[in-house]
Amino acid sequence: MFFCEIRKSHRIHFYLCLGTAKGIYFIMKATLEKLRAEAWRELEGARDARELDSLRVKYLGKKGGITAILKQMGSLSAEERPAIGALANSVREDIEGALASRAESIDAAALSERLRSEKLDVTVPGTPAAAGHRHPMSIVLDEARDIFISMGFAVAEGPEIELSEYGFDKLNTPPGHTVRGWSDTFYIARDESVHLRSQTSPVQVRYMEAHRPPVRIISPGGVYRKDELDASHSPMFHQLEGLVVDRGITFGDLKGTLNTLVQGIYGEDVKTRFRPHHFPFTEPSCEVDVQCVVCGGTGCRVCKGEGWLELLGAGMVHPKVLAGVGIDPDEYSGFAFGVGIERMTMLRYTIDDLRLLYENDLRFLRQFA
Ligand code: PHE
Repeated sequence: MFFCEIRKSHRIHFYLCLGTAKGIYFIMKATLEKLRAEAWRELEGARDARELDSLRVKYLGKKGGITAILKQMGSLSAEERPAIGALANSVREDIEGALASRAESIDAAALSERLRSEKLDVTVPGTPAAAGHRHPMSIVLDEARDIFISMGFAVAEGPEIELSEYGFDKLNTPPGHTVRGWSDTFYIARDESVHLRSQTSPVQVRYMEAHRPPVRIISPGGVYRKDELDASHSPMFHQLEGLVVDRGITFGDLKGTLNTLVQGIYGEDVKTRFRPHHFPFTEPSCEVDVQCVVCGGTGCRVCKGEGWLELLGAGMVHPKVLAGVGIDPDEYSGFAFGVGIERMTMLRYTIDDLRLLYENDLRFLRQFA
């Protein structure tokens, strides 16, 4: 009576059975046992919740194996039915139990896999964030600013695109003056009324027009000149302008102020030298040199044997400039100076090529970290 075939879908091929009623009972019993064994085996191989779910449908669902058996109960005798019913229930319970425990172990395996793959070793050293640092020019400018602020100076600003009225006329530099030439100045207007400022000095005029004495300001910023870029020239560079106007300001105040700057930046015992010079907007005018930062004044290649290096231009504010902004030159006097920030930086760190300050070569810049 077992010469029958049970289809994969677990429906029973009654027609192949050597069909007595007793035969059907045994086939159903065998089929239920087979279902249990098959379910166990398949559950063992299930890898995730989705596979478990399709196995649940396959064995316990409405069209599943057990339901198919129960549908055949009618062909059994009254004595056989409870036995098959009880067996079907125990197979169902076994499969449910196996599903639950398989689900548990799949969850546990998934958890331990996550713990393994996502583990975080808090003792591994982190990737350090690359912190930047100031550019050497910013370092020197900050120092200069601090020195002036400690002497009571305020910081003022002016435009880089400047009216020639402020850049030249009001600085006692009339039309036709060589520094107003097209070969020196970047004009923006054909009529020469607007240009990229070639010095920070126009800020003097703008500030004095807006503020009455006492005036005590510095003004750092970019300036432009028609120079080719080489080791000591650049079409764009930076200056720091200084201006003091009050009653009784003398050349001695200018010297004392600039000596304080130089000693603050280059060292307590570095000497300065004031040489006569000419600027249209100061009278008298001078250029200021510092003792060579390389040889200390004995003469070397850097100072070309002179012992001195030129640092800045300065002078007493020209009476015409004061009068031009409505300040009475008989009552007030003042001094002004303009220092190149690149130059100040190069002398501070003995940098012999201006271009290093602009090239952003980290091998150079990291030396100032
Ligand atoms: N403006 C001058 C220059 O660029 C420097 C200077 C400033 C001179 C103030 C005197 C007074 O060379």
